[in-house]
Amino acid sequence: MNSKLILRLAIIGVVLLVIGAIAGALNPFMPARASAEANATDSLFNVMIMIGTIIFLIVEGVLVYSILRFRKKPNDETDGPPMHGNTALELVWTAIPAIIVTFLSVAAFSVFAATQVPRDNELVVRVKGQQFVWSFSYPHDPSVNMRASDVLVLPVDQPIRFDIEAADVMHGFWIPEFRIKQDAVPGRITEVRTLPTLKGEYSVVCYELCGSGHGVMRNAVKVVERSEYEKYLDTLIVRPPAKPAPGEHTPEWGKYLIISATYACGGCHYLPDANIAGVTGPTWVGIGDRAATRVPGQDARTYLQHAILYPNEYIVPGYPANVMPQNYAEVMSDTDLNSIVDYLLQQKAGQAAQAK
Ligand code: CUA
Repeated sequence: MNSKLILRLAIIGVVLLVIGAIAGALNPFMPARASAEANATDSLFNVMIMIGTIIFLIVEGVLVYSILRFRKKPNDETDGPPMHGNTALELVWTAIPAIIVTFLSVAAFSVFAATQVPRDNELVVRVKGQQFVWSFSYPHDPSVNMRASDVLVLPVDQPIRFDIEAADVMHGFWIPEFRIKQDAVPGRITEVRTLPTLKGEYSVVCYELCGSGHGVMRNAVKVVERSEYEKYLDTLIVRPPAKPAPGEHTPEWGKYLIISATYACGGCHYLPDANIAGVTGPTWVGIGDRAATRVPGQDARTYLQHAILYPNEYIVPGYPANVMPQNYAEVMSDTDLNSIVDYLLQQKAGQAAQAK
């Protein structure tokens, strides 16, 4: 190599480095930085963009140069010179990517490890992924019933640990603005940590193809002041309505018994109005329309009373017998039984559509 060529290559190298560094610094692809982890992750991305830009310019530059420089002259029908490999060149183009990939792996792991160190005073939010929605449960006083939320509300500047589970298939828990991602795997709890630093509205996105509704599996994230967060938690508390006097019953009390899982109805039955989503037993959506048509001679109320107290007397086609607890006749008071029946009788198809 003569010194002129070396000088030329050196100049090209410097120019490429400068363009790469500018592209990396400008990196326009990232959303808002809403967590303490975002800066380290973005720096890593900027380095990747820089390396990617340089490689892109080298590859495309050589390609365009070769197309122009080695064009076939008019009427030139001769073959090119025979060539068979170039060991030095092949070693170089294998070694350089290997070094880059190794460097990026080490850098990525160290960023991940540094951002996932447990912090003091972490708030543990339980995340559940199921087809096709996320739900979030907050720590609370065990003497109150708190329902899960479909909006992830977090206090700003509060260290968070998410404990993530999946109810059915694998999902992917991803908050792009926080730069965190973690798999939701059936049968185990996975973790990811974050420290939200910027108030605003973001999204939890599912990144793992999980079925036909995967593309719509998004929930809102709101990072708010602590006082607002506490106000929101208060709205999740399920407060019991007045308990009916002995011998009396109300649909409000029935709904409360279901929401609070007093008789574990939600393990098997599905009714969005009461926040239950079981699949083992028949759905309760629109049950008020069907109850009178099940067993000849039984009106709707009698049918529902029997279905709770003597579940094997009539099994809805397509569902197994002996799955429903057989002991409600012993453990359920008349007030509770008739309150639940009152509430179920209200479940008409029109209401169900609204609740959905
Ligand atoms: Cu859940 Cu994709």
